[in-house]
Amino acid sequence: MKNFHSTLSALILLLFFSCEQESKTIKSGEIWPDNNGIHVNAHGGGMLFHEGKYYWFGEHKIEGKAGNKAMVGVHCYSSKNLTDWKDEGIALEIIKDDLKHDITEGCVLERPKVIYNKTTKKFVMWFHLELKGQGYLAARTGLAVADKVTGPYTFVKSLRPNAGQWPANFTKEQKTVEYDYKMKRWTDEGRTAVVNGMFLKRDFEGGQMSRDMTLFVDDDEKAYHIAASEENGTLHIRELTDDYLNFRDNYVRVFPDESNEAPAIFKKDGKYYMFASGCTGWAPNPGRSAVANNIMGPWTNLGNPFKGTEDEMKVSFDSQSTYVIPVIGKKDAFIYMGDRWMPEDAIDGRYIWLPVQFDEKGIPYLEWMDEWSLDFFD
Ligand code: DGJ
Repeated sequence: MKNFHSTLSALILLLFFSCEQESKTIKSGEIWPDNNGIHVNAHGGGMLFHEGKYYWFGEHKIEGKAGNKAMVGVHCYSSKNLTDWKDEGIALEIIKDDLKHDITEGCVLERPKVIYNKTTKKFVMWFHLELKGQGYLAARTGLAVADKVTGPYTFVKSLRPNAGQWPANFTKEQKTVEYDYKMKRWTDEGRTAVVNGMFLKRDFEGGQMSRDMTLFVDDDEKAYHIAASEENGTLHIRELTDDYLNFRDNYVRVFPDESNEAPAIFKKDGKYYMFASGCTGWAPNPGRSAVANNIMGPWTNLGNPFKGTEDEMKVSFDSQSTYVIPVIGKKDAFIYMGDRWMPEDAIDGRYIWLPVQFDEKGIPYLEWMDEWSLDFFD
């Protein structure tokens, strides 16, 4: 009898552990309960792999239409397998008792990304910041720093980068053109002016606009800040200083006047790939992709990476890119991380995660999958 009981206990334990370790599936667009059974609240997010765990940082949204305003802060979750998420709490809290603070309650704080600086041992978070009550006019990037991956992160500053500095790929001729800044943006003349840096010139003294953004750390530990600038017309890629807390004067304009938002970068076989979107507010649009041999460009357009029906491709499977996760321990394994925004009830936003596939020419693409697991990469 005693033997029977111990065999039974061993069996139960075995069953328990095999269930625990079972690789769960990723079901894009569904509710993703965390360890407390609550849908993960980390929108416009990014991922940091640190000491054996993935940390997902994203915008904490609240119910309703106003839920896109920053009322709480940046939420952090951790996971060892990218499917079981533990709520690690609010990593960066917005400031409730100072109406004048850059990250006061009701500001817009979007697309936070965290990177780890191996030299300073600091966790560095950059995000898109719009000051309270100014709509999307401020177009700033904000910085917060922590000693522990899950925080608390301390707000450091917000700014418009590279004030008084020209991008490396801006010509002498472009620098000398004078503009009538009241010129109509969407005319041939307006578009030519934007391509040639009308907004860049306008913002030269005060610093460049910085909205949708991501960060990328290269193999040599150099980090880059990639953001929608120049009234969302042109992407800027900027090199961060060695401590990741400032911008170097080294930056470039990418795809002038092509209106790219939601940039996400990954590197494979020495090449840099970018997923991005067009600019249509919270509504999805056809995705974009690009490749470069050097992160500072030149970048070559690779077209819409979403492969499906025409209707699916038009809306990128009803998603907008936010990050690409390199899966640790698996070769050439990358996950497209996108948001399915719910502007009427922001907290209900869903996550669209799909494996990045590569065609025979090595060009990345994304196909819809109702349900998949990391075994896909094996
Ligand atoms: C699209 C951006 O990608 C989002 O992060 C957000 O800023 C919305 N626009 C606001 O309309």
